[in-house]
Amino acid sequence: MRHFLTLKDFTKEEILEIVETGLSIKKNLKAKIYNQELKNQTLAMVFEKSSTRTRVSFETGMFQLGGHALFLSNRDIHLGRGEPVKDTARVISGMCDMVMIRTFEHSMIEEFARYSSVPVINGLTDSYHPVQLLADYMTLVEYGMDKNIVAAYVGDGNNMTHSWMMLAAKLGFELRIATPKGYEPDSRVLEDALTIAKESGAVIKVMNDPKEAVSGATVVTTDTWVSMGQEEEKEERVKTFEGFMVDDAMMSLAQKDARFLHCLPAYRGLEVSEELFEKHSEIVFSEAENRLHAQKGLMVWLDKNRGD
Ligand code: CP
Ligand code: NVA
Repeated sequence: MRHFLTLKDFTKEEILEIVETGLSIKKNLKAKIYNQELKNQTLAMVFEKSSTRTRVSFETGMFQLGGHALFLSNRDIHLGRGEPVKDTARVISGMCDMVMIRTFEHSMIEEFARYSSVPVINGLTDSYHPVQLLADYMTLVEYGMDKNIVAAYVGDGNNMTHSWMMLAAKLGFELRIATPKGYEPDSRVLEDALTIAKESGAVIKVMNDPKEAVSGATVVTTDTWVSMGQEEEKEERVKTFEGFMVDDAMMSLAQKDARFLHCLPAYRGLEVSEELFEKHSEIVFSEAENRLHAQKGLMVWLDKNRGD
């Protein structure tokens, strides 16, 4: 049985297989052929943070695959009142077939997975957001942008950055990350990514100049400067991140046909300008829709690889 906690635990071939599975289920759905691989199965969705896309995509995806999804916010279950993670894991996995968790500390989801008898999916932690990268990569495939990727990530060295680093490391493409000083990605994640990159041929660079990162890139991406749980740092962050907004001037340094991606929600006038965002809104909202399709691929893949 496999859990999906970070892309680090998956090979390049497995990542591509998951995305391919999602694309094939998407093609079927568009042709009104309804895959039912998860008929009678239940996905428990534990949310300790807010969500629009993750909740809607997992719940809809599970329903479309013939299953059922349970929305469990920490206000509703005893986890939020101090019931131990390991007990919650044993109870939920005793009744449900798969679990998706959105939480703060990555160690919480690791502990949950250790005690869970069913696959656990990371729906975002402070450290990683791997399901988003499945959708991002699927979108690049659909737009014919998945060859010779030179990606530039501009902004905060956060969970999205770490997941981009793992995707680049596994698939073997170039990723330049530009953050303000003091907001670089976690050095342990960088070390891991660079170790994996040695085998795959990926080039991963961390810098403090967004222009240098974007120059010649085929894909430019960013994320909020204030992640969930950092609300109190907003004022300070907005000041520090001055000069890191992706706008037309910044994008003009990338390749002529470069694409912009954003995991959403987007904060116009901060990490991205309104104008640039709207110019690239078609691909950005395809990226959002692909959360549904990529995660259906993931759930079917995890179910197939249960080993029972
Ligand atoms: N991108 C993303 O995960 O969005 P939500 O926070 O709305 O789920
Ligand atoms: N980095 C953001 C991603 C939101 C999808 C956060 O953690 O809030």
